[in-house]
Amino acid sequence: MTSLVTRTRLTFSFLYLKRSVGLHTSTKKKSLMLQVKQSVGNKGHISTSVSNRTTSYFISPVKLIYVNRNDPQKSCFSVSTQNNPVSYYMECDDPDTKEILARDMQVIYDFISEKEESQLFDEVEPYLRRLKYETSHWDDAIHGYRETERKVWSEKNKAVIQRVRDTAFPAGTPQLAYVHVLDLQKEGYIKPHVDAVKFCGNTIAGISLLSPSIMRLVHTEDKTKFADILLERRSLYIMKDSARYDYTHEVLPDESKFKGKPVQKDRRISVICRNEP
Ligand code: OGA
Ligand code: MN
Repeated sequence: MTSLVTRTRLTFSFLYLKRSVGLHTSTKKKSLMLQVKQSVGNKGHISTSVSNRTTSYFISPVKLIYVNRNDPQKSCFSVSTQNNPVSYYMECDDPDTKEILARDMQVIYDFISEKEESQLFDEVEPYLRRLKYETSHWDDAIHGYRETERKVWSEKNKAVIQRVRDTAFPAGTPQLAYVHVLDLQKEGYIKPHVDAVKFCGNTIAGISLLSPSIMRLVHTEDKTKFADILLERRSLYIMKDSARYDYTHEVLPDESKFKGKPVQKDRRISVICRNEP
């Protein structure tokens, strides 16, 4: 039996927090104290102090609080384990888009473990390997790809797929039984498009295997409104409603930049769940 609750694995690393909360790089480690706040049913919260590089598992979402020892009142940063702060995975200059995507384009880093990533890879690779990468027509959306759809999964991978579904869709949402597996070669990329409304409902949820990539969302009626989303390897993105209907999405080619830094895109496999139209 697989567990019904998703456990969050968390390593309290100074670096992780620095990245997540965007702390100023000059902040001294010594001046910071880490606290974990966890909801415990209707009993309120418990707070525990932790040290750097402790790994723990949590069933309910926790909040990490960074307390500056020198001035506890003034400088507390916090980050919830359920969502990464939007500022970490999104680069966007347009306030409207920022607000919409903070709601409708969620990215959860480390959604799957390295072990789960290789299990998924091991299951799809023997099939994908037999296909040729296609370099499509000038008007097609995807370049340098091969793909498949899969309904039956090994027990272990079934549990991972179920976790994606449980996280992305409210209970009872009718979903496509077939999971879309898209393999983009290193040189591969996806041109701007909106998924056909005929074949897919309001939500698209995808995990990324093997490589990071940048997904760009551009407003269909105003191309100046756009955002870049960093899809780390092993992350899950959940694109819904306005992000899914009012913005095109695309996956940028290798070496495209996120926050000024080139992202080395390698071969990337996405495993995508969708709901029924
Ligand atoms: C698609 C698509 C995104 C991804 O197949 O329509 O946009 O994450 N894929 O691979
Ligand atoms: Mn798409």
